[in-house]
Amino acid sequence: MSNQADTRQKSNMPRDTSFNADALVRDNVRRMKPYSSARDEFSGEADVFLDANENPYPSPFNRYPDPLQAAVKRALSPLKGVTPEQIFLGNGSDEAIDLLIRAFCEPNRDGIIITEPTYGMYAVCANVNAVRIVSITLDEHFDLDLSKFPSLNDPTLKIIFLCSPNNPSANLLNRARITQLLEEFQGLVVVDEAYIDFTAEPSFTSELSTYPNLVILQTFSKAWGLAGLRLGMCFASKDIIAILNKIKYPYNVNIRTQELALEALSNKDQKDRWVKEILKERARLIDALQGLAITLKIFPSEANFVLVRVSDAHGIYKQLMNLGIIVRDRSNVKLCDNCLRITVGTPRENDKLIEVLKQIRQ
Ligand SMILES: Cc1ncc(COP(=O)(O)O)c(C=O)c1O
Repeated sequence: MSNQADTRQKSNMPRDTSFNADALVRDNVRRMKPYSSARDEFSGEADVFLDANENPYPSPFNRYPDPLQAAVKRALSPLKGVTPEQIFLGNGSDEAIDLLIRAFCEPNRDGIIITEPTYGMYAVCANVNAVRIVSITLDEHFDLDLSKFPSLNDPTLKIIFLCSPNNPSANLLNRARITQLLEEFQGLVVVDEAYIDFTAEPSFTSELSTYPNLVILQTFSKAWGLAGLRLGMCFASKDIIAILNKIKYPYNVNIRTQELALEALSNKDQKDRWVKEILKERARLIDALQGLAITLKIFPSEANFVLVRVSDAHGIYKQLMNLGIIVRDRSNVKLCDNCLRITVGTPRENDKLIEVLKQIRQ
């Protein structure tokens, strides 16, 4: 492929409108009958529930949760501009990553494309499921270089995983190049937007009606401050979402998680205030890092962390650790030699980090 998307007229692009999720899915998944839980078979109003072998005595959690999390999806739908049928919720977005691979990739035959350095779970889930990984290295700006991609006509390549803003580099991927992949790839293009709340760039959710092969991942683990709850979001066509629902565990999101997610969604201002504060601190942290002798390069950040190239990442990591400050040493990752990934903390945490870094011996 070539990097031609930047200059091409969108209206002239060839669109393959024949995308059909059911044709892409693994044969066994297409043919199988999903498990039907008691709560799937009856979801109306009743007084006496003797259908699910639950304990009738009222602990707060004696009943199974709603398998399809209807209330959470109803609250998310207007916020994200998608219908409830276009939403899958899982045990973190990691669950959606795993299910996408299991639904669409035939073990020992199919493959996925990842663009490294990137979030590690795409490769882990592929490896667990005996799915081939085609790894493309990002360019020196951690952006997509489409000329490095293999032919997109290989029918055994099922999913391209893109992460934007990217972890660990913190930058956005070029939107026109993502769009070109959506246009030209016959499989799924997954855009992982775990860090979307920390950038002014719009989400790809607005493109769902244009691209039937688009899948978007978001999470409650970052801006929403709920990493411990384990709740991830996946947005796609209703056909793709139906496939994920077909193979998920029946009760994959517990009652408490659904309740607390609803509570968080009813108080979106809190999330927005946190994001504002984190962005302010990100700017302050970058400013302080810029003045340090150990800093060689700070990569632009559109996320709640900063990737910094330093004089000796391993040594600095160890010195910080000895003082009780834990950052992520990413030196062993492609294109990231001598790089530390630093999450933006509270003002007090950032002050402490900066203070210590100022005194570090090189
Ligand atoms: C890019 C990216 N996607 C997904 C995740 C996982 O999110 P979740 O906590 O929803 O499983 C992370 C976590 O660090 C991430 O960086």
